[in-house]
Amino acid sequence: MSGPLTILGLESSCDDTAAAVLRGREILSNVVMGQAELHAAFGGVVPEIAARAHAEKLDLAVAEALSGAGLTLSEVDAVAVTAGPGLIGGVLSGVMCAKGLAAGAGKPLVGVNHLAGHALTPRLTDDLAYPYLMLLISGGHCQFLVVRGPEDFRRLGGTIDDAPGEAFDKTARLLGLPQPGGPSVEKAAQAGDPKRFAFPRPLLDRPGCDMSFSGLKTALLRQRDALVAENGGLTEGDRADLCAGFQAALRDVLAEKTRRAIAAYLDEAPGAPAFAIAGGVAANGAIRGALEAICAEAGLRFTAPPLALCTDNAAMIAWAGQEMFAAGARSGMDLAARPRWPLDAASAPLIGGGRKGAKA
Ligand code: KG4
Ligand code: ZN
Repeated sequence: MSGPLTILGLESSCDDTAAAVLRGREILSNVVMGQAELHAAFGGVVPEIAARAHAEKLDLAVAEALSGAGLTLSEVDAVAVTAGPGLIGGVLSGVMCAKGLAAGAGKPLVGVNHLAGHALTPRLTDDLAYPYLMLLISGGHCQFLVVRGPEDFRRLGGTIDDAPGEAFDKTARLLGLPQPGGPSVEKAAQAGDPKRFAFPRPLLDRPGCDMSFSGLKTALLRQRDALVAENGGLTEGDRADLCAGFQAALRDVLAEKTRRAIAAYLDEAPGAPAFAIAGGVAANGAIRGALEAICAEAGLRFTAPPLALCTDNAAMIAWAGQEMFAAGARSGMDLAARPRWPLDAASAPLIGGGRKGAKA
């Protein structure tokens, strides 16, 4: 085979039905069909509704991705699909769809770990060399990874309860701010005093890179209730100060754990060490600024893929599939859908599933 590989990627592990076509690093099409309005009334993703919507939309997403790329299925080199971790009904829909496409067109199939898709994206967007350090921070993910190869990851630590985006969303809900919570909490925090209320910095007293964010939300709830009991309600100023205090606590935890992760990574880093952040929370200016400063201090290149490639999408699955395919990976028709699938089996996470399914 000569020239860059052309890969069709499929993603359906949570609440986005996505298909994309990549040729080398060129994104020929990138279709994401969200399901937010289907789940809005329930305050979270409902797995059965998600699975049904994926089953309905996958064919459509694939047809749109192929026509957007100006290709037919016979012109792709392989079909890559998220085979886990995630909500099992959605993952199954994607795997079954990909098997049908691959078998029907006589194309190779590559099962991809969703987290590997996120973790390999900095190679698609910034051509980072292995090994690099990665922090995934979104509504469903939170972990530090040393990315050594397309199927070689060392997990340094992650959340033992809520993901940071989940904490932002819960905070917004407790304060009556609009969803998604991250942007509204960040906006409110700009006018606030981060020192007015004392928020904990969980797990900083313990070694390692594990994190915990559920206590922040409980602290916020207590402060809110005390203010309401005292004054009969919250003022704009109270809200701003609560948001600022919460965000500063979360930033400080991420900053300190990043320092530790960098130290562990530098033990095996090459001449040009690099750090990448990805996930919706990477859009937060205060957090991003703190992590960027730490990297500058430690002499690491700092990168963050554009948001559309940080949040769930199929271009990242096609890219990971392409790297794996180039390295010889092939999946059989017995490819299984896995609700759990740690990237680093030697260092599996301590936690259960989150609002948006398994976090690792
Ligand atoms: O990566 P993402 O789009 O989706 C998944 O979690 O799968 O991340 C969404 C999360 C939400 O929890 C949202 O509140 C958070 O990212 N987020 C932010 C900001 N923008 C989005 N959190 C903090 N600050 C932001 N500016
Ligand atoms: Zn994801």
